[in-house]
Amino acid sequence: MRWVVFRSSEEMIGGAADAFARRAAEACADRGSCLIALSGGATPQPLYRLLANPREPWFGRIPWKKMHVLWADERCVPPDHEQSNYRAAYDTMLHRVPIPTENVHRIRGEAPPGDAGVEYEQQLRSLAALRGDRNRLPIDLAILGVGLDGHTASLFPNHPALLEDRRWIRDVTVPARPPRRITLTFPLLNQANHVLFLAAGRTKREILERIRNGEDLPAARIAPAQGEVTWYVDSEATNA
Ligand code: 6PG
Repeated sequence: MRWVVFRSSEEMIGGAADAFARRAAEACADRGSCLIALSGGATPQPLYRLLANPREPWFGRIPWKKMHVLWADERCVPPDHEQSNYRAAYDTMLHRVPIPTENVHRIRGEAPPGDAGVEYEQQLRSLAALRGDRNRLPIDLAILGVGLDGHTASLFPNHPALLEDRRWIRDVTVPARPPRRITLTFPLLNQANHVLFLAAGRTKREILERIRNGEDLPAARIAPAQGEVTWYVDSEATNA
């Protein structure tokens, strides 16, 4: 686990845009495509906006046509709902960039949660099979956040979904709004090549301290056997 402290959240987002463009270029050069997992929440939205801005340097560096996007989690609401993670990424980034529509793998938040979970599992297994192995889908870059209770994606402390050791997707009921969600699980997230956590602001200080101290929280269990985990945080979120 590597920690990088930025002076401000703006610098942190700029650093994340660099990391995104670098991983995208590397993955496309090595494997012909790049698989990105996006998160919801407030923290990554300025990143999505920055990446999609043609006046900023990152837009032109990203091989958009070769990008595949999936979601770390989704709230069980329709795709045009203000709490939809798909909608957030669509509004801030996806409608402005030339990613082929068939490369946007959204979770059907409007469907009954059990069905949406099973469908997403099938969708990702098919994507994995196309790449040669139904049981392996290394995400090139997973952009994750952390909640004040240590959750990441929609993997919340003490939830039975933390024990999942086979399925890649679970539908869950969690202590957050909205409570019904679909989430990627550890068996998939821990196959990732790179995981980038973003956390900014004073309110995140305590939870980051607990993670740094090795507490067994969902976010701390993201530890891909063959990948790397990097935390980008701003100075407000640390005591540094
Ligand atoms: C979601 C997320 C969730 C988020 C954290 C941090 O759908 O809510 O994917 O895991 O990343 O709750 O959220 P903030 O960035 O808003 O602090």
